[in-house]
Amino acid sequence: MRISSRLREVLRKAKKVCVLTGAGISAESGVPTFRGGGGTAVWKGMPFDQISSAKMVRENLDEVWAWFDYRRDVLKDCKPNLAHKILANWQDKFEDFTLITQNIDNLHKEAGSRKVLELHGNIHRSYCIKCNKRFFMTKDTIPHQPEFCDECGSKVRPDVVLFGEFLPFDVYEKAEQKSRQAELFFIIGTSAVVYPAAGLAELAKLNGAFLVEINPEETPMTEICDESFRAKSSEALSAINQVI
Ligand code: OAD
Ligand code: ZN
Repeated sequence: MRISSRLREVLRKAKKVCVLTGAGISAESGVPTFRGGGGTAVWKGMPFDQISSAKMVRENLDEVWAWFDYRRDVLKDCKPNLAHKILANWQDKFEDFTLITQNIDNLHKEAGSRKVLELHGNIHRSYCIKCNKRFFMTKDTIPHQPEFCDECGSKVRPDVVLFGEFLPFDVYEKAEQKSRQAELFFIIGTSAVVYPAAGLAELAKLNGAFLVEINPEETPMTEICDESFRAKSSEALSAINQVI
C-alpha cells in the first residue's frame, strides 16, 4: 500500500494527532458492525436504533438488556486486533495523541490504550436509573449484574448512549477540544452518519487538520478527506505505521 509523500510529511511533523474510530475497526475481531457490507443490524425483527433507544428503556428495559447481553455474549470471545494494537502504540509515538471512539466494546482498552474518549459509553458498565450509581462488570459477567441497585433498589440500565440521549458531556467536550486542535485526524471504520460523533472530523478539518479516512467503503466524509484508504483498518494502519 502506497503512502503519499504528503502524508509522510504530515506524519513526521504532526504533534497533535486525533483518531476517531467506529465499529469497522472491530470488524476484524469478529464484532458485527451496524451498517456497511449491505446489511443493517436487527434484533428480533427490530432495527437496532429502535431497540437501542431511550424510549425502549422506558417501555421495556428487560428487552434492552436482552439485546445488550446478547452483544456482550458475542464479545466474550473477541480479542483486540492489529489495528487496535497499533493505535495503542501510537499513544507513545506522538506528543499529543487522542483516541476517540464510538465503540462500546472496550477493545481499545484491552489492546492497551490507556486513555480512550468513549463517546457512546461502555457495554461493561451500567448505572441505576434512579440514583445513577455506576456498576462495573467483567467481560464474562453474562447475563449482566446487578439487576437492581444496591443503594436504592431501582433497576439498572446499560451505561451506553442510546438514540434519543445526549453524549456524556465531559467526554464530548474533551473530544471536541482535541479535534479542534488536531493537526492530523484519522477517521477509521465508521460510516460517519451518526452525529455529533461524525461532526468531530468536520470540526478538525475546518480548523486545519489533515484528514485521513480508512474504510473499505466510501462515506459522506470521503469528500472532505485529504487522503482515503479503501482498505481494512489493520492493513492501512500497518502500512502507515511503517513510515512513522
Ligand atoms: P457502522 O456499522 O455504521 O459503520 C461501520 C463502518 O465500518 C462501515 O462504513 C464499513 O464500511 C466499515 N468497515 C467494515 N469493515 C471494516 C474494516 N475491517 N476496517 C475498516 N472499516 C471497516 O458503525 P459506526 O459508524 O461505528 O451508536 O456507527 C456509529 C454508531 O451507530 C455506533 O456507535 C452506534 C450506532 O448506532 C450507538 O449505539 C449510540
Ligand atoms: Zn440506585
